[in-house]
Amino acid sequence: MGTALVTGATSGIGKEIAWQLAAEGNDIVLVARRVDALEALAERIRNFTGQQVEILSADLSTEDGAKAVGARAADRNRPIGLVVNNAGFGLGQDFISGSLDRELGGIDVMARAVLIICHAAANEFARRGYGAILNISSMTALTAQGTYSAHKAWVRTFSEGLAETLRPYGVSVTVSCPGLVHTEFHERTNVDSSQWPEIAFIPVEKVASRSLDAARRGQVIVTPSPLYKGAAGVVRAMPRWLVRKTAGPGRSGRQ
Ligand SMILES: NC(=O)c1ccc[n+]([C@@H]2O[C@H](COP(=O)([O-])OP(=O)(O)OC[C@H]3O[C@@H](n4cnc5c(N)ncnc54)[C@H](OP(=O)(O)O)[C@@H]3O)[C@@H](O)[C@H]2O)c1
Repeated sequence: MGTALVTGATSGIGKEIAWQLAAEGNDIVLVARRVDALEALAERIRNFTGQQVEILSADLSTEDGAKAVGARAADRNRPIGLVVNNAGFGLGQDFISGSLDRELGGIDVMARAVLIICHAAANEFARRGYGAILNISSMTALTAQGTYSAHKAWVRTFSEGLAETLRPYGVSVTVSCPGLVHTEFHERTNVDSSQWPEIAFIPVEKVASRSLDAARRGQVIVTPSPLYKGAAGVVRAMPRWLVRKTAGPGRSGRQ
């Protein structure tokens, strides 16, 4: 896949995707906010894999941050073969009484930055006639758990449309919709992940490898676990009033 750019690479799914890509012989651009974590990870990946690793510290909740990443994704002198839009977080609050800034930060990182980076990458990839984009959505895109579900539904629908737009240019777009994964995601939002049975969690290695396999095949939507594929089928078959009742606001597991 050549050089891959991965956002949200300092932990969880993004970090695992970066490791797997480097282990396969790809150079990597790691993107996140924490410079120390980016530097330490870059050093480890270089030492273990011998690949070139670049770091790009950017806050994707800002337009400047997202545009800087978009510019790197579209840099003709240092071509990127795969862009992975993975950075994201749970809001950890109710819509009523929650902070508006936190809400805006969520939509900025999980929708606006994805749009800005995809816009830059899509134009360059279409011009030269190759490239791949992998966007990380979530199973919650099918539920009604408030704004986080809405952002993830946006990523999924946007990616499907972009996949069709870019297909004639030889560029693929894949959207991955994982279920629960052990990462820093839940502790960052005050969610006790021990409330769910271990069987409900997909190993992060599988989420990364199945998402990357789908991107390699040019598959548009991937649910990287048989359990959640089944669950997605059940949710689709349910009337929406039942989805709202069983997987609506207040059902995110937050304490
Ligand atoms: N864990 C799950 O159960 C689960 C399930 C389905 C989908 N997902 C999705 O998977 C993606 C990755 O989440 P994860 O579970 O791996 O969570 P995580 O371990 O908390 O990782 C989140 C990553 O996003 C980065 N990030 C957060 N805010 C950012 C910002 N403003 N600018 C730049 N980078 C930012 C973080 O880096 P810094 O803090 O260093 O910036 C970190 O590298 C997210 O889009 C999430 O919605 C997760």
